[in-house]
Amino acid sequence: MNLSLKPGRDLGLPAEWYHRADMFERERQAVFAREWQFIGSAAALAHPGDYIATEIVGWRVFVIRDREGELRGFHNLCRHRAGYFLEDGQGHCDVLRCKYHGWVYDTKGRLRATPGFGEAGWFDKQDFPLLPIKVGLWRGLVFVNLDHDARPLESALGDLPELTAPYPVESFACLQEVQFDISCNWKTYTDNFVEGYHIPSIHPGLNAAIDFEGFETTQIYHFYFRDTGAEQAEARARTIETNCQIVREDFGICEIAQRNLEAGAFSRGPLSPKQEAGVRYFHDRLRGSLGPL
Ligand code: FES
Ligand SMILES: [Fe+2]
Repeated sequence: MNLSLKPGRDLGLPAEWYHRADMFERERQAVFAREWQFIGSAAALAHPGDYIATEIVGWRVFVIRDREGELRGFHNLCRHRAGYFLEDGQGHCDVLRCKYHGWVYDTKGRLRATPGFGEAGWFDKQDFPLLPIKVGLWRGLVFVNLDHDARPLESALGDLPELTAPYPVESFACLQEVQFDISCNWKTYTDNFVEGYHIPSIHPGLNAAIDFEGFETTQIYHFYFRDTGAEQAEARARTIETNCQIVREDFGICEIAQRNLEAGAFSRGPLSPKQEAGVRYFHDRLRGSLGPL
């Protein structure tokens, strides 16, 4: 099924990249363990003990405001035998108590108590602090990075600070977070997410509402609003539902494309210079992150 590549031909990633387990592990290490990930709004971390917990492709992590007011990030992982402290989501806690055998850590990640552990001369609580991760804050938005040598958040954001400079980002409130489960590789959905070529076929409602020729992808699942007054509540609910409906419209086609990518008949396909520049950019960045294979 190999296509012979003519110079200048622009093809998408090989199909097997979308389902091979070893590729996914490579991506976990080369992309998700090294890039900044957005995890939520700083407004959810206003007071000491406030936290946001989440999972990044298998790594459970959280950010918490410590008693001195600093934001700290850790793996949601106990140093005893890999238990955990916090369910995913937002909340408040004064101490971090492991759900497995009850070890207690403070909000700076120091191990404070090991109830029932018994005496052991070799054991020193200082040797078993929580495993820290990096935390970055940009205009009221909180990011984490598992790589201690990661480049600064500001440089990873590229043009975003400049593009969003005219907008009062800090004044927007996150009113709702919507999570979707979809049965496809993360790249199958990202490919879909960064092009508008499929809009006439998959989103007829959206197609009628926009100037398709001028379409550029922008789409988020945290819904931020500037006007949070009660009289606009219905309009906000409509905005959220309309957006969620558009997201759902992509699921069916992505899941079928995923099964086709896995079945073995498809190798790779041509990318439109007019419609799929975003897909090409995404693939180029991924190849850059993975390095030679
Ligand atoms: S794993 Fe956390 S106390 Fe045992
Ligand atoms: Fe779509």
